[in-house]
Amino acid sequence: MASILVTGGTGTLGRLVVPLLHNADGKVRVLSRKPREAADGIEFVTGDLTTGEGVEAAVAGVEIIVNCAGTNKGDDDKARNLVRAASRAGARHLVNVSVVGADRIPVVSGVDRAMFGYFASKLAAERVVADSGLPWTTLRATQFHDLILLTARGLARLPVMPAAAGFRFQPIDAAQVAARLTELALGPPAGLVPDIAGPKVYEMAALLRGYLRASGKRRPIVSVRLPGGGARAVRSGANLAPDRAAGGRTWEEFLADRVAPSAR
Ligand SMILES: NC(=O)c1ccc[n+]([C@@H]2O[C@H](COP(=O)([O-])OP(=O)(O)OC[C@H]3O[C@@H](n4cnc5c(N)ncnc54)[C@H](OP(=O)(O)O)[C@@H]3O)[C@@H](O)[C@H]2O)c1
Repeated sequence: MASILVTGGTGTLGRLVVPLLHNADGKVRVLSRKPREAADGIEFVTGDLTTGEGVEAAVAGVEIIVNCAGTNKGDDDKARNLVRAASRAGARHLVNVSVVGADRIPVVSGVDRAMFGYFASKLAAERVVADSGLPWTTLRATQFHDLILLTARGLARLPVMPAAAGFRFQPIDAAQVAARLTELALGPPAGLVPDIAGPKVYEMAALLRGYLRASGKRRPIVSVRLPGGGARAVRSGANLAPDRAAGGRTWEEFLADRVAPSAR
């Protein structure tokens, strides 16, 4: 029975990874910033990867670490604190999740940083993991359906929904990513593995139209051309992996499941 720490085990992805590892006979511990009671055979440890507080206790005695913790900035600092503690504890496999395009979206100007700083922090986190001296695996995924839904809901609060001109996305079900991550965590360290991406590529405006249709809302969509090298890279498809399209739910199928009829 492998002893496994899932950071971010309370998040969209991590909360799907935890039961998969548990059912695969793993002894699973979750790191969260909020204290939680153990439940369903899962242990919770309180800690913060940004400050490093509690991280040493979280990694103590752990063989495999699946790093699903993340926010829109500073994931490199989080990775640094995790790696430091994991190295001292002698973990034998660190599994990391990153984003498709982390290495292809340039973050140079202030404008790039404001819009795509997330991609730079994910690339920096990847490097921290690769240079850690620990045996590692990194999987880059495209945007989860949940994130696109959150974005669409946010934009639908505006009287007019802006859609970045020429931006396309290939959203994936978080369950697909969780299944692949679990497989990788239980296998040997593999370095940077092939990307995982959703089944279809959509224009941003098409994703928003799909949301409006599913929720029964009506909003005009305006096309907005975003400046900077990062936006140019996204227009050229740097965030996509069409040859790595996985199965799983399409955006339309996800919406049918997740946008409640009462909200339509
Ligand atoms: N969402 C996407 O479309 C997408 C696409 C590709 C890759 N990814 C990557 O996949 C990972 C998971 O994303 P997600 O969408 O599941 O994220 P999420 O739902 O926002 O969950 C974030 C998780 O990170 C934990 N966390 C945040 N800051 C932390 C800190 N300082 N210390 C410890 N834990 C912290 C949170 O735990 P508590 O709040 O319980 O502390 C939570 O469990 C991230 O690395 C993200 O970059 C996401």
